[in-house]
Amino acid sequence: MSKQNIYDNEAFFEEYMKLRSREVNANNLFELPTLYSLMPDLEGKKVLDLGCGSGERCMEYIQHGASKVVGIDISEKMLEAAKKNYSDPKITYMNMPMEDIGNIDETFDVVISSLALHYVEDYEGVVKNVYRLLSDGGIFLFSQEHPVNTCYSGKGDRWTRDENGRKIHANLENYCVENRYDSKWFVEGVQRYHRMFSTVINTLTEAGFRIVKIAEPYPTKELVDKYPEYYDNFHKPDFLFVKSQKT
Ligand SMILES: C[S@@+](CC[C@H](N)C(=O)[O-])C[C@H]1O[C@@H](n2cnc3c(N)ncnc32)[C@H](O)[C@@H]1O
Repeated sequence: MSKQNIYDNEAFFEEYMKLRSREVNANNLFELPTLYSLMPDLEGKKVLDLGCGSGERCMEYIQHGASKVVGIDISEKMLEAAKKNYSDPKITYMNMPMEDIGNIDETFDVVISSLALHYVEDYEGVVKNVYRLLSDGGIFLFSQEHPVNTCYSGKGDRWTRDENGRKIHANLENYCVENRYDSKWFVEGVQRYHRMFSTVINTLTEAGFRIVKIAEPYPTKELVDKYPEYYDNFHKPDFLFVKSQKT
């Protein structure tokens, strides 16, 4: 199955790091608060982070009491940044696509993946391997781009607008066609995999997970008053969170 390593593209990497370093972005405003609202107690826990990126989360998991964090990522550039900025004796970074975690010979109490699973074609394979790597009762918590956000190929305007150019609603296409959707995000041809909401959930339950909680975060009214551009998220949530438990 194909794997794209877009975060090692120089132009993409630079723009992505610029976005994440801004104080005001969707991650800081409502993605990360949701992640931490769903986070299990990490005290003394062994954590695996799939698509750990530049390592900031791995360091936070240690600060939340994790005894060990293994962060894996397909991108050498992201891991270089992680090792430079977020090194700790309790963190191990590994350059590995998450499709290969079946080769890891270790168990974890918590597996977390923040905004990386939509880059993976073989979601079912990853879910089955996560189940195997978790200890009994272990938690698998992940966020991904919301399925209403991934069924769009970048052709035409993302929005239907009124005569003043104001967004009326988001356009989506082929929600029921599970496929790779290539679109422009900083650079052309960024590959993401669209799966229906039912597939995301049923794949987990069929592998043996129980669903603990689902979240589709959106900004508060106060945030939108301050940053009107985030009103888009009332039309179309950007993020989907699923917290599940190995039974
Ligand atoms: C949006 S970033 C999120 C980084 C980090 N989890 C965070 O929330 O700050 C997505 C990350 O997933 C990684 N990634 C994409 N496809 C991957 C794959 N198949 N296996 C492992 N990592 C992957 C990218 O290299 C990138 O670092």
